[in-house]
Amino acid sequence: MFLTDEEKRILDGAEGTGRQKAMEMLYALGLTFDAEKLIPVKRTHVALSGQEGDTYWCELLVNGGAVCSVPPTTNPYWDTDYLTKFYDVTPEEFDLARRTGEAYRKIGAILTYHCAPGVCTNVPFFGEHIAFSESSATPYVNGAIGARSNRESSISALAAGVIGKTPYYGLHIDDNRRGDLLIDVDADMKECYDWGILGYCVGRIAGSLNPVLRFKNKVNPGPEDFLYFGAEAATSGAVAMYHMVGITPEAPTIEAAFGGKKIPAATAVITGKTLADEEATLTANTGVINLVMLGCPHYTYSQMLEVERLFNGRHVSDHVAFWILGESGAVELAERSHLRQRLELLGVRMVGQTCIDEPCWKSFEGHLGLTDSPKCAYYRERRGQPFALRRLSGCVEAAIKGRLD
Ligand code: F3S
Repeated sequence: MFLTDEEKRILDGAEGTGRQKAMEMLYALGLTFDAEKLIPVKRTHVALSGQEGDTYWCELLVNGGAVCSVPPTTNPYWDTDYLTKFYDVTPEEFDLARRTGEAYRKIGAILTYHCAPGVCTNVPFFGEHIAFSESSATPYVNGAIGARSNRESSISALAAGVIGKTPYYGLHIDDNRRGDLLIDVDADMKECYDWGILGYCVGRIAGSLNPVLRFKNKVNPGPEDFLYFGAEAATSGAVAMYHMVGITPEAPTIEAAFGGKKIPAATAVITGKTLADEEATLTANTGVINLVMLGCPHYTYSQMLEVERLFNGRHVSDHVAFWILGESGAVELAERSHLRQRLELLGVRMVGQTCIDEPCWKSFEGHLGLTDSPKCAYYRERRGQPFALRRLSGCVEAAIKGRLD
């Protein structure tokens, strides 16, 4: 792997151990994937998780004097000021959250605490080389926007932020962005929930390959639809790049999606029944619920408005906590426009900066939770809380009744 003289100097430690460690990480990654060189990036995003390993890595770089040359935006962990008014955490959990915020502040990160940076807060342009971690953000920036990022870890994305470069391999290279398999879709796509279930199906079929979707009916996905699709394709599979023929920017035609390669026969046809069957495997739980959790990935302002419309003045059942996790700007906008206050009167709370997979939610574990996101259900179940899945209207009706039939 070619390194410039300046990159070799950093690797030799001439600019301090923090930058040296970051360069070691990028060099090792490049060697592993046979990258020929490093390329500059002007945009990075780190899936800061508030977990010990990620925080350790950031502190290691900070203690070695590193500061980001391309400051990354950051994923959420949890709002320690607001959520401790409601829920208990241990001193160790609180201390880890505090350390995490401090380490990322010191390294110069932009503390957006938002997991859909491609929708707002850190939006790349077509063809831009970037280094993004967060499994739902990567398919969005590659597929929906046509920017170029590998599926970075928080470790490699932070290293890219420090050095301002990333190894040139994978989805940075034209050949690796072409479609690998064709999936025909013959189903009605009404709302982002349907796109999420479609993504879940596609991820299971495609694994880590690049799927090309060809729709029988006319579809017109919006940002939340792309986001839900990619989030779920990266949950059931490891999809980081996809094409939708006639829709996404690198697939104006099916020929373009396959980059001139022979167009294969369809690997699968996904129908309305396929989606319903997939949904049935994810929604088996019923009974009394204690939590409804929306916003995995983070809700936008228009999704928050839709929650209010569906409640139509009715109130959440007394024994149910109803939380919307949103981008901080959307939460602030909701506050300024009094949407937040109106929803609170109905028993709906919202919080920024926060992920569903954090210790602040542990008091709900052991009882049934409900969400509109397969990704949320997947991660919460790993934490020990059974979860059910419904489209948003179903989540609202169950929250009012306090149970899921
Ligand atoms: Fe965001 Fe956490 Fe879900 S980072 S996508 S809320 S698992």
